[in-house]
Amino acid sequence: MKCELFQGNCLDYLKDTSEPFHLTFLDPPFNQNKDYRKHNDDMDNDEYWKWMAEVSQSIFERTECGGAIYFMQREKNAHLVIRTLIDTGWSFQNLIIWKKKASAVPEAKRFGKHYQIIVYATKGKVPRVFNKLRINPPLLVTEKYSRSNGMFVTDVWDDIRELTSGYYAGEEPIRLETGERAHKQQSPVALLLRIILSSSVIGDTIFDPFAGTGTTLVTGSQLRRRSIGAEIDPENIKIIRNRLTTFRKNDDVLRFRKDYSFTENLDQIWGDKSVIMDEVPQLNPVQYMLFEDRASSYQESEE
Ligand SMILES: C[S@@+](CC[C@H](N)C(=O)[O-])C[C@H]1O[C@@H](n2cnc3c(N)ncnc32)[C@H](O)[C@@H]1O
Repeated sequence: MKCELFQGNCLDYLKDTSEPFHLTFLDPPFNQNKDYRKHNDDMDNDEYWKWMAEVSQSIFERTECGGAIYFMQREKNAHLVIRTLIDTGWSFQNLIIWKKKASAVPEAKRFGKHYQIIVYATKGKVPRVFNKLRINPPLLVTEKYSRSNGMFVTDVWDDIRELTSGYYAGEEPIRLETGERAHKQQSPVALLLRIILSSSVIGDTIFDPFAGTGTTLVTGSQLRRRSIGAEIDPENIKIIRNRLTTFRKNDDVLRFRKDYSFTENLDQIWGDKSVIMDEVPQLNPVQYMLFEDRASSYQESEE
């Protein structure tokens, strides 16, 4: 399935495209004064939320009726995310708690932080797609009997490991030759897998305005969703191109398939297992287009 990558400001891409989206993963810089090469992460708070509203509204305008957005942020900004989405036309569905597996961040005068939030909203009250996924996490010590049919996914996601520094995150983070992570905010494939499986079907178009390392693109294309990403930093564009053309075992979505084996219509949502098995090697090289910049013409590469 084709991927498209736009190098530049996502708002420029959104102004120009007439592409209808079915699902968007919105993981912007959090305005925490982090060191981004091509972005000022220390904006005035009002200016930052005005920017987020502009992005949310542009995506809303290009989203199909019933299409979904998943907006990730720090827990302390939950109210601002919900307000921004509602003010720009979205209908609130869930406040998802993504509970971290690493230790909580200690605080002197309040409880230590142990989660991040993802607000799930749709264009119109009724989602066009919501696949009720079933998982089968290990039993708690208080649970006596194994489940015969797994359990449905709730709004607390505590089974997806974040990509931290050090050994804990395993081999999934993309690393520089020095061993350092190439991008400190790389999202786990398992997170995008859950979002994409929940809110899209094969053939849908998925958009990521802040593509970073391209997790949405690499996950979406394996699930036969058409995946479009925008990224402002040319260094990250290189990472994404490399990730899409040199398929890494750690990006393989199949390693999570058994986690969802109790989902009723899994073959329909994910694609028949045998077909996918055949398709994975074809990801190398994946077909994608790189839009160098708004002004320049499309450049089709790595076909
Ligand atoms: C939090 S990271 C996203 C990480 C991503 N989810 C991943 O899995 O790698 C945000 C990204 O947005 C990019 N960015 C910042 N401003 C942008 C803009 N106006 N348009 C497009 N990308 C932008 C940054 O360079 C950064 O890579």
